[in-house]
Amino acid sequence: MQPRDLSDHVAYEAGRGIEEVARELGRDPDEFIKLASNENPHGPSPAAAVALRDAASSVSSYPKSTHTDLTDAIAEQWAVDSSQVWLANGGDGALDYLSRAMLEPDDTVLVPSPGFAYYGMSARYHHGDVREYSLERTEDFEQTAKAVLEAYDGDRIVYLTSPHNPSGSTISLEAIEQIAEETDEETLVVVDEAYGEFANVDSAVSLLEGRDGFDARDDIAVLRTFSKAYGLAGVRLGYAVVPDAWADAYARVNTPFAASELACRAGLAAIGDDEHVARTVETARNSRAYMREHIDSHVWESEGNFALVDVGDASAVAAELQERGVIVRDCTSFGLPGCIRITCGTEEETERAVETLNAVLEDFEVDPGLATDGSGRAADANPEVPDA
Ligand SMILES: Cc1ncc(COP(=O)(O)O)c(C=O)c1O
Repeated sequence: MQPRDLSDHVAYEAGRGIEEVARELGRDPDEFIKLASNENPHGPSPAAAVALRDAASSVSSYPKSTHTDLTDAIAEQWAVDSSQVWLANGGDGALDYLSRAMLEPDDTVLVPSPGFAYYGMSARYHHGDVREYSLERTEDFEQTAKAVLEAYDGDRIVYLTSPHNPSGSTISLEAIEQIAEETDEETLVVVDEAYGEFANVDSAVSLLEGRDGFDARDDIAVLRTFSKAYGLAGVRLGYAVVPDAWADAYARVNTPFAASELACRAGLAAIGDDEHVARTVETARNSRAYMREHIDSHVWESEGNFALVDVGDASAVAAELQERGVIVRDCTSFGLPGCIRITCGTEEETERAVETLNAVLEDFEVDPGLATDGSGRAADANPEVPDA
């Protein structure tokens, strides 16, 4: 027997971990820093770490009251009703719940290209198809209503990412409102704010609640996660904020207890730890400014906890950086074979990453033959040349 036809499905390519890389290269893990998965360089909120230790003895129970308590705390933070908060196993889990709630077989979703792979993966798991709109590198991945609406063709879900992964660009609330207004009544606009805490823009929750001069809408949902600013990527906790009109669908689509007891307790502690979030955001802002100022190549302006860098041959440069102990994200899988994405690290990590990258870029320019992807292809064979 065989599973159903999965030939359209792609495997998710996660950033590689230090242990994994060190083992493969037969090296000491201490030689490496990892700036590949947009994780929090300060680790989890200390309050969450304490909560996790304290919760260890209660994991024999299903998460019932903690799930309710965390949902209520998030609802209070956003000033929405608790029913509008769909807790899930990471932001990815929340994307799945939205797919489950929205998609009929053969419905299409419209996703950004380049963009976060899981939108399309989730749609396909739920028997949907994927269409794309382009964010142009030559236009600095600018996100406009026009770019989305020109590609739109009655799709059931339209995904917007603000800040966008991997470029760091954002989209204005006015543009989001226009997209929601000019798409069909049955089209849901999902605004993925996984990196929202790092950006200097207002959340699209204002749009579904009708605040700040906007009319309330029932066709926008907002995605948030505890993986980034709260440093809880390992516990898997995220949520969608959805309009009141169909918030009750959660009970019919959620996986029972998918947000675990440990995750809910960690989330509850983290949400009250403003100091950790403020420190994390400040570190990211300093780090991305430092990268833009000091990297000897084009770095796109970013509102996230990462920066996209034009390096010419991403595979070769990422491999060489890894060799020198700095693990970054090769953006070839995003369709950007000329770019790497570097997560904002601590001051020390950022300085090391920048210094190492500049040395690699210099070496590659001196000897382009060094910049191969292992197949003998030289860096100067790559049509993507560094801007500066
Ligand atoms: C744009 C974007 N959305 C959503 C997620 C999902 O994050 P998680 O499932 O860890 O909450 C990520 C993770 O990297 C992301 O980059």
